Amino acid sequence: MSIENYKLAAARHALEFVEPRMRLGLGTGSTAALFVRLLGEKVREGLEVCCVPTSEETRALAASASIPLTTLDETPLLDLTIDGADEIDGELRLIKGGGGALLREKIVATASDRMIVIADASKRVDKLGAFPLPVEAVPFGITATRNMIEMLAADSGCHGEITLRYGGDGKPFVTDGGNYIFDCAFGRLDDPESLDEALKFIPGVVENGLFLGIADAAIIAGPDGVTVIEASYGESQEAV
Ligand code: A5P
Repeated sequence: MSIENYKLAAARHALEFVEPRMRLGLGTGSTAALFVRLLGEKVREGLEVCCVPTSEETRALAASASIPLTTLDETPLLDLTIDGADEIDGELRLIKGGGGALLREKIVATASDRMIVIADASKRVDKLGAFPLPVEAVPFGITATRNMIEMLAADSGCHGEITLRYGGDGKPFVTDGGNYIFDCAFGRLDDPESLDEALKFIPGVVENGLFLGIADAAIIAGPDGVTVIEASYGESQEAV
């Protein structure tokens, strides 16, 4: 099976966690998009749900799939968010933001009773960090912010190239919130909590792509089938 099929298998399995009249958060990225399309089919068959998208891209996709949408202001508490991830470690700590939607993704996930990650098995890692950590920053003072990221990350033992993300138009990539993104190639995060804390200290940093203690479960699809990993008090339990 291809990675695309594994993503689809994870997305399809996530439908089993959706119950009628749930308030759902809809993630961003290629795996979350597959879930949105499958959810759209269920809605057209009569499933009643109400959804908050984590990006304008997902909003457009969900609207085209006839999924009823609301905003987090109208519906500030959600039952479940289903979203993808760029990396998932054994404690269900995540790196997210490859698609640039990390801020809204984190706001929506933390407004949800439960967050379930869907991914193909290539996203599982022993240590976070091979995927460059996205850090969202306000455009004002962007160079000063970059320098502070470098300095405070180094204090947390993280070194590596910090690159401003560009879009296909040759201009800096702009998030839905009007901010820029640095991709921080630190290579290996031995202490994600301390890096997260350091980044939060920087005034120009809006958010970073570390999701620590946020995911409640992960649905991982790979050559061994579909595995559900439930977070429980910092440990995880697997069931195929
Ligand atoms: C979007 O900003 C990201 O957090 C995505 O959830 C992440 O990049 C995973 O995307 P894919 O499902 O496309 O790999």
